[in-house]
Amino acid sequence: MKIAVAGTGYVGLVAGVCFAEKGYNVTCVDIDEKKIELMRQGVSPIYEEGLEELMQKNNARGTLHFTCDYVEAYRDADAIFIGVGTPEMPDGSANLSYIAAVSRQIAEVVEKDCLVVVKSTVPVGTNDKVEQFIKDFLVHDVKVEVASNPEFLAQGTAVHDTLHAARIIIGTESQEAEALLKKIYEPFGLPIVSVKRRSAEMIKYACNDFLALKISYMNDIANLCELVGADITDVARGMSFDERIGARFLNAGIGFGGSCFPKDTKALKFLAREHGYKLKTVEACVEVNSTQKTRLFEKAKERMITFSGLKVAVLGLAFKAGTDDLREAPSIDNLRLLLAAGADIYAYDPKGEERAKAIFPEGGQNGGSMNYVTSITEALEGANICFVFTEWADIKAITPKEFKEKMHTPLVYDGRNLYDTAQMKAFGVEYYSIGRH
Ligand code: UDX
Repeated sequence: MKIAVAGTGYVGLVAGVCFAEKGYNVTCVDIDEKKIELMRQGVSPIYEEGLEELMQKNNARGTLHFTCDYVEAYRDADAIFIGVGTPEMPDGSANLSYIAAVSRQIAEVVEKDCLVVVKSTVPVGTNDKVEQFIKDFLVHDVKVEVASNPEFLAQGTAVHDTLHAARIIIGTESQEAEALLKKIYEPFGLPIVSVKRRSAEMIKYACNDFLALKISYMNDIANLCELVGADITDVARGMSFDERIGARFLNAGIGFGGSCFPKDTKALKFLAREHGYKLKTVEACVEVNSTQKTRLFEKAKERMITFSGLKVAVLGLAFKAGTDDLREAPSIDNLRLLLAAGADIYAYDPKGEERAKAIFPEGGQNGGSMNYVTSITEALEGANICFVFTEWADIKAITPKEFKEKMHTPLVYDGRNLYDTAQMKAFGVEYYSIGRH
């Protein structure tokens, strides 16, 4: 079986590498020549645990190939997986131009019957359009079907999530397509849920938005906890034992970020509106998240007369631990506000520094200044205030004593509820977190 994968971002690359790991002959296609060259040498363009090792292993045994030459990759493929991005448009809808570009290429070059599998998250009904679009532009007399196979991996655990997924969702409109996809996933030994295409597309949004709702709900409750004297971590612990609720995604904090939840909540809201329906729950979730992101800064603003000329330690930039990704990271909104308020920021992130530099170059900026440091100590030494944005293990391990001894003023705003409030108080640290006292 010959598999081609279009796009080498989180979705495409991880899928390609995992299919190769299961013994398939896989060719990953991307338009970026530099990236392709690096991947050929076994270098991953993204930081993802275990990914480089699998890339190198499968490169060496000849099951994994990287190319810019899509003709070669698609021409005689049995299945072509599309894993290109569907970024957010200014109005919240999904940008489908990359999906369209790949579909057109497929239509123009396939020389044998093949199954096109859309892994990217796309609005309900897109797969129908992709199939029609490919048929409209088909050059050779071959049969091309389109199937939906949404991806549920989380960044930081992408390889594990793919090889040990809770379930595989396949959305097909024919028995042949269903049979082929089931066969492709057979070596994974995972539960398969087979539905129609539109339901598969909806499952993806319904899952992501449900999790986003869960987080926004906890953030909303956390804000209320602050007002009524309850503690959100205790509340979450109490809730977690109820199996109907579950223990995961109950962490209140500075709001969700990343490449999926922000985009997919807005996309579903847009899709509903397009059909004349107001999806009130998801709209509320988007709103809660947007105010939650800067709640800490707002709290600090009430306490400070100015940020100008102050050394502000920023611990963590990535949208969550385990990734170097900063897309929609709450740190970005906060850094913008802090810089505009004249702060001298000393930022530390074990993985996210390079990507952060592309958004906030080092040096004087917008009234304040941006400085990157390579250790927590450098950030904290002599700082007037500290913000915690990401729950990296080394940031979590900082003791109240260190905050007290290293900082000029031990004043900590923690967006991840990482430290014990009583201990911080006992060591004389003025400590603010989310939904706790
Ligand atoms: C998510 C989904 O989990 C995944 O199934 C989907 O395919 C893509 O989107 P990802 O964006 O990589 O994955 O990260 P995830 O771990 O889900 O976290 C998303 C955001 O929510 C992060 O900013 C995280 O910090 C935040 N979060 C998560 C919370 O604020 N509280 C929680 O309890 C859990």
